[in-house]
Amino acid sequence: MSSPVVELKHVTKIIKGKKIIDDLSFTIEEGEVFGFLGPNGAGKTTTIRMMVGLMGITSGEILICGKNVEKEFEDALVNIGGIVENPELYKFLTGYQNLMQYARMVKGISKQKIEEVVEFVGLKERIHDKVKTYSLGMRQRLGLAQSLLHDPKVMILDEPTNGLDPAGIREIRDHLKKLTKEKGMSVIVSSHLLSEMEMMCDRIAIIQNGKLIDIQKVHDYLQESKQKYFFEVDMKNLAFLKDISYEKVEKGIEIELEKDEVPHMIQLLIENGIRIFEVTPISKSLEDRFLEVTTQGEKLHA
Ligand SMILES: Nc1ncnc2c1ncn2[C@@H]1O[C@H](COP(=O)(O)OP(=O)(O)OP(=O)(O)O)[C@@H](O)[C@H]1O
Ligand SMILES: [Mg+2]
Repeated sequence: MSSPVVELKHVTKIIKGKKIIDDLSFTIEEGEVFGFLGPNGAGKTTTIRMMVGLMGITSGEILICGKNVEKEFEDALVNIGGIVENPELYKFLTGYQNLMQYARMVKGISKQKIEEVVEFVGLKERIHDKVKTYSLGMRQRLGLAQSLLHDPKVMILDEPTNGLDPAGIREIRDHLKKLTKEKGMSVIVSSHLLSEMEMMCDRIAIIQNGKLIDIQKVHDYLQESKQKYFFEVDMKNLAFLKDISYEKVEKGIEIELEKDEVPHMIQLLIENGIRIFEVTPISKSLEDRFLEVTTQGEKLHA
């Protein structure tokens, strides 16, 4: 197995005597989109700032491609591309001039590379216009292009969809997927929006009060073995269900079942003369899980 691209080991951050980040440990693998999910003030930005070397670590360590962010700063940082706060752009220059400006500061970036990233983020048509004429989404894309210039292994984006409309959000999402699929990069994104993370990430870490509450594959969140099913049925003569725990709802019943129990349930209903109009799984969203997990966390911390 390849070694992790990012590794946090017992990372703790104390600011003015207050524990902001409390013993965070996790690893991020190559080619995955990894999400930091947590309410405002949870510690997402602080964690990211430590990962990109913008802030010191009180105890513990962070490794990027095996290099220690504090002790081997430059070797670690060449592997990272990221937009932590708003991308630094010169509004009176064109998009292209901004990229050239950046390329002059970092060694070894060819014109061809600039053209490649412009194409990648879909800014070709407008790249020679001044940045002040760009929409927020276009500025985000230019920021993304800029952070791709040095071919990083890991892209770290703090709230990349902040302020974007649904189309802009979708665009960012598609770009991040493309980065992992086409370039094999790992992507770390933070957000407090569950629905968004659900669509964007392969794995999600939930943080609250600086602690890691839960970390899970998005796929697993959505595919728990037992789940509720809604059966739209005639609501008569249901007495034969007396040994089964079910709930009467409008137009039908809800029953918690494993997937391979569903055919049997359908059969049972038919044998008892019940007409079935529809069977729908009621999937537990990440939001339900998030609330479940964070309220448990709250009880733990109370
Ligand atoms: N320089 C600082 N000095 C004092 N407290 C700080 C500092 N930076 C962050 N904090 C505190 O650390 C906690 C975590 O902040 P952080 O910005 O990391 O949260 P976040 O998860 O990014 O929240 P948001 O969703 O609002 O962006 C907050 O309580 C914040 O007030
Ligand atoms: Mg933040």
